[in-house]
Amino acid sequence: SNSVKQMGQITISEGASVTMNCTSTCTGYPTLFWYVQYPNKPLQLLQRETVEKAKTLENIKEKNSPIVKYSVQVSDSAVYYCLLETLC
Ligand SMILES: *[C@@H]1O[C@H](CO)[C@@H](O)[C@H](O)[C@H]1NC(C)=O
Repeated sequence: SNSVKQMGQITISEGASVTMNCTSTCTGYPTLFWYVQYPNKPLQLLQRETVEKAKTLENIKEKNSPIVKYSVQVSDSAVYYCLLETLC
């Protein structure tokens, strides 16, 4: 199906790191987008990634397009959206 798995709310200590996962069980080679929306701001593209063959073989069931943030700051507080662009 055309869907991605996202996470709910996460709380991280300032200075810690976090990996935000966006996984899809799409059988093709999907392009996964990450958007971020800071409070009172428009959506902003963060990352665009086409999940390639090599990566797919690595994890055939779930294609993951993670975003890793190191040393998280209060200013990173936002809504992060993951979006899938492909017909599965
Ligand atoms: C994302 O996936 C990685 C690898 O499985 C895991 O270590 C990490 O905790 C996950 N991130 C969250 C916020 O669940």
